[in-house]
Amino acid sequence: MSAFNERIEALRAKYGNRLAILGHHYQADDVLRHVDFQGDSLELARKIEGLSAEHVVFCGVFFMAESAAALARPGQKIHIPHQGATCPMADMAPAQRLEDVLNALREDGRLVIPLAYVNSSAEVKAICGLYGGSVCTSANAKTMLEWALQQGDAVLFLPDKNLGHNTANQLNLDATERLELDIRQDGSRIDHKKVRYARLLLWPGVCAIHHKFKKIHIQELRRANPGVRVVVHPECSPGVVRASDGAGSTSYLIKYCADAPSGARIAIGTECNLVQRLAARHRPQGKDIIPLKALSCSNMAKVNEERLAGLLVDLEAAQPLSLSPDVIEHSRVALERMLRICA
Ligand code: 13P
Ligand code: SF4
Repeated sequence: MSAFNERIEALRAKYGNRLAILGHHYQADDVLRHVDFQGDSLELARKIEGLSAEHVVFCGVFFMAESAAALARPGQKIHIPHQGATCPMADMAPAQRLEDVLNALREDGRLVIPLAYVNSSAEVKAICGLYGGSVCTSANAKTMLEWALQQGDAVLFLPDKNLGHNTANQLNLDATERLELDIRQDGSRIDHKKVRYARLLLWPGVCAIHHKFKKIHIQELRRANPGVRVVVHPECSPGVVRASDGAGSTSYLIKYCADAPSGARIAIGTECNLVQRLAARHRPQGKDIIPLKALSCSNMAKVNEERLAGLLVDLEAAQPLSLSPDVIEHSRVALERMLRICA
């Protein structure tokens, strides 16, 4: 046990129900042992509305804590142990660029509805709320894309083009109805002739971690391990998803392992903290769970026990996350639309 373990537990006891700690599945075990609730992005966003704690500490990356701040009740303070724990994919869609691109897309009179993956900034979510759109997570992307397609002439899906394509595949949306956008130069490079025919416009972002999983990894693994099942997160490329036996959110991957029979061998394509935890959890039942390739999210790792302890020691004086009233109002519209549609 680390030197921080007892300190954190003593501080949790001191704050009692004035404090709630939430953690994403990608956090390390020594952080997750201190959380009151662990979940995927959708489950964590849902949890906020039922929390009455004055201080909510969010062990995950910045966009997750921002969503919590948008959904928090008045006076509730949302904290993250390290403000630099950002998601590089969320940073691939700056809010001003989104607004420029949306305006360029709407020039031709088509009603383009923005749908942002929750891995995006609060400002981006606010734009989605303002322009009649919403947000989605990997657990509800299919429902939300189906909804968004019914709201206008086309959907702008951002920032993850892989999740966009994988979800479009689930909806049997033909490749000819999709267009990956050139978002450079404030949207002036967009090919308007092609935009006119597309129903799904894709922002060219990816998760640098999940994009590293390749079809060749699955082929080699299947050759070396006949009978192995492969499941991946839908931030992986469409080729990887097609070559696997299943794809879904972190909660889907957890359930897949829980439901598998004893003796199963399962390779998982996602962040390795989660894969290692599942391997340890299911080893006693004779399930062999291995990483498709061991990749970790260095941003998730910026939240650690030492930083959690440091935050809790000075919690009353700590600066909670702060969003402008405008961003709160409009990002909340986008988030609440998702929570209502997927209730
Ligand atoms: P989930 O929504 O599946 O929890 O995943 C979040 C994420 O950041 C995956 O890289
Ligand atoms: Fe962002 Fe990828 Fe890390 Fe998830 S795994 S938080 S998408 S960088």
